[in-house]
Amino acid sequence: MGKAFGAVAGVGAIASLYAMKKSWDPLPSVRSAGFTTLDLSVYKENELVTEKWRGKPIFVLKKTADMVAKQTDAQKARDIEVNGAHYMVCIGLCTHLGCIPAYEPAKEGFLCACHGGQFDYSGNVTKVPPPRGFDIPPFKIEGNTLVLGEAGPEYTKMKENGITL
Ligand code: FES
Repeated sequence: MGKAFGAVAGVGAIASLYAMKKSWDPLPSVRSAGFTTLDLSVYKENELVTEKWRGKPIFVLKKTADMVAKQTDAQKARDIEVNGAHYMVCIGLCTHLGCIPAYEPAKEGFLCACHGGQFDYSGNVTKVPPPRGFDIPPFKIEGNTLVLGEAGPEYTKMKENGITL
């Protein structure tokens, strides 16, 4: 009788500990705060879309086959390839003083109207004063999805090569 009571009490204690832990864990919506998930299959070639991640604008540009074919090594180094399609994904703030540059599809590049800085379709600077290309946010590739806010192996490699900042 005593053993049976002890076993029931033990199970009850474990169950209540589990319930307490669950109530301490953050809600799924809180856990996912700070992450932005992008379905890359919906973007159109040479059409800039501005997404948002942690309050910052994120430029997503799907490159055309011609853009991919003529990429320099510096452009290739910033390329994000997902299921055979190539993308530029960058924080859409000029690295000079933080203005938001405009994309010019006909020129396949960005112009920052504040002081005339220019960037190519991979986010590299082509005309100063910006001191460097667009920053690349931490990202992880999951199938056709890009998770911003999490560093996957592709991002880590870019970071090690010093091109994310
Ligand atoms: S803020 Fe872009 S060129 Fe100055």
